[in-house]
Amino acid sequence: MACKQNIGIIGGNGWLGSALAQAAVAASVVEPNKLMLSSRSGNKGAAASLACHWTRDNAELAAFSDVVILSVRPAQFKAMAVDLKDKLVISVMAGVSSAEIATRTLATRIVRTMPNAAAAIGRSFTPWFAKAAVTAQDRTLVQTFFSASGEAAELSEEAHVDYCAGLTGAGAAFPALLAEALKSHAVARGLPPEFAVRAAKGVVCGASQLLASPDASAAAIVKEMIDYRGTTAAALEAMLARGFAEAVGAGLAAAEERGKSVSSG
Ligand SMILES: NC(=O)c1ccc[n+]([C@@H]2O[C@H](COP(=O)([O-])OP(=O)(O)OC[C@H]3O[C@@H](n4cnc5c(N)ncnc54)[C@H](OP(=O)(O)O)[C@@H]3O)[C@@H](O)[C@H]2O)c1
Repeated sequence: MACKQNIGIIGGNGWLGSALAQAAVAASVVEPNKLMLSSRSGNKGAAASLACHWTRDNAELAAFSDVVILSVRPAQFKAMAVDLKDKLVISVMAGVSSAEIATRTLATRIVRTMPNAAAAIGRSFTPWFAKAAVTAQDRTLVQTFFSASGEAAELSEEAHVDYCAGLTGAGAAFPALLAEALKSHAVARGLPPEFAVRAAKGVVCGASQLLASPDASAAAIVKEMIDYRGTTAAALEAMLARGFAEAVGAGLAAAEERGKSVSSG
């Protein structure tokens, strides 16, 4: 479904902004002539090839757009002045509250989201929270726009979006961390490094597809492997006994805390 509204992305040349723009155009959710991207340095980056409008002037973007996506870093947002009164404003920024967005932009229809880097391959999982003033039509647009870059799901509490700075925002890095740990152990045990890289990637990207089907359950897979009482159970139990869940939890909490310090800094 193509959006009828004009959409602007402030920071549209950045990592996330360009991924969201490309995905929306590729999915025909936004027609290029209804899309404007802004940055201070011009049309460069992954979205430079899109046949959309570009500007260095956020006031021009605001005048063009019915919907404005804020995709700058939190510190850049604090240095930015733009009047977005009466616009639907969608933030992807970690740690910037809807209250601060309202104060700085004068918007009331505000949505906060937390996509991740997998938006570039259409595989982000994007939670979003909408303030009460956001209309049913706005909510449909948000769900449609973020479904173009993966999966989108509404949350009813803003604090849960702050929590998701770790779970979803940082989440695209977690499989790579697991692959690095698998590879490092294999190399330390004398396996050829090139083989170790391939094997670790095969496990993380290949075998993880067991979990990809809609019916698959992570809890059920872990239980089945442990109940089998084989070598996999030995591996899982040793990892759990060494604090696997605690290490993951500490990472998620650290991302949430980092978001709070960004917000107050
Ligand atoms: N990357 C991720 O995976 C991810 C995940 C979740 C959330 N986020 C959030 O997404 C936001 C963007 O992250 P990112 O990784 O895409 O950062 P990024 O690559 O640094 O992109 C930000 C872009 O904003 C532009 N910009 C800065 N000030 C501007 C202004 N006043 N007007 C217009 N454009 C301006 C910059 O380009 P110029 O220097 O040319 O202006 C830059 O390319 C952050 O708030 C982050 O918390 C990112």
